[in-house]
Amino acid sequence: MRTIGIETSCDETGVAIYDSGRGLLANRLHSQVAMHQAYGGVVPELASRDHIRRLLPLLKEALAEARCDEDSIDGVAYTAGPGLIGALIVGAGFARSLAYAWRKPAVGIHHLEGHLLAALLEHPAPDFPFLALLVSGGHTQLIDVAALGRYRLLGESLDDAAGEAFDKTAKLLGLAYPGGAALAALAARGRGGSFQFPRPMLDRPGLEFSFSGLKTAVRVALRGRELSAQTRADVARDFEDAIIDTLAEKCRRALRATGHRRLIVAGGVGANTRLRQRLSAVAGANGAQAYFPRPEYCTDNGAMIALAGCLRLQAGAGAAAAARANWPLGEEATTGA
Ligand code: KG4
Ligand code: ZN
Repeated sequence: MRTIGIETSCDETGVAIYDSGRGLLANRLHSQVAMHQAYGGVVPELASRDHIRRLLPLLKEALAEARCDEDSIDGVAYTAGPGLIGALIVGAGFARSLAYAWRKPAVGIHHLEGHLLAALLEHPAPDFPFLALLVSGGHTQLIDVAALGRYRLLGESLDDAAGEAFDKTAKLLGLAYPGGAALAALAARGRGGSFQFPRPMLDRPGLEFSFSGLKTAVRVALRGRELSAQTRADVARDFEDAIIDTLAEKCRRALRATGHRRLIVAGGVGANTRLRQRLSAVAGANGAQAYFPRPEYCTDNGAMIALAGCLRLQAGAGAAAAARANWPLGEEATTGA
């Protein structure tokens, strides 16, 4: 089975082709980051318009890279939500038109399901079931994954997502949007232990997260201070430590509670090197193994959507789903236009 995957939920246009026997055949991505940087965040209308411009050229490149045409394609998968509604509608409209013209099934994919399954693009691919930590710009969730489509939310952030906390703190430190990776690079030069930032929600049981207080603590710590290069690096380091400690402890609890032997890490923050090292250690200490998609499969991409579409089609799915800005993971897709 061979699928095209189309991702347009936010500020990356991704088009990929996945083959169930041979793996990923093509993976094309256009990032809009430079376009949005001047505004300090994603401008939804600009995002939608840019997806329109990029999709067709990226599809042509992907088909050429994979050396395939419509005859060898079995379906077209696209991100149906959650995300920016205008951006989603562009991708859904494009994918469904292509599927209609080529007389193939179209399959709408939940963006977070795409992230959850991204580790399956790697070798060796982890088997179901597993515990997933999803840490992206919009979500921080611990999910019990029993099988494809069987997802149980164990805990999530009550306010800011981990990636959002990285981005907002990066902004306070004068780094360009989205600052997660730049903050991590700055933190590598920082000395730990200069600032005492809170580890939210560690003092009580449960698998919920809260990161908005952490960002406020950074703001307070910076107030009235001369910001030397070393101080900025120290703040970045202590902030990153606070996030990593919190995520690691919640993963430890969730591994204990579920008894899972596999921990899958997904989403943009999953690209963080020190987080990966720490979660590998936590998994090992709890009789489990951690799996990480390579960094380019952690952030938004078409490959994870092509793979999810392939698995969904193999499992008998094939109904086109309407684009939805809000779509809780585990809830059935909304069919129709
Ligand atoms: O999964 P993603 O590409 O988009 C969403 O679906 O939200 O995640 C983007 C987020 C941004 O907040 C970005 O700053 C963060 O992932 N990020 C990182 C790193 N690379 C990307 N955060 C921490 N360390 C990194 N190395
Ligand atoms: Zn994402």
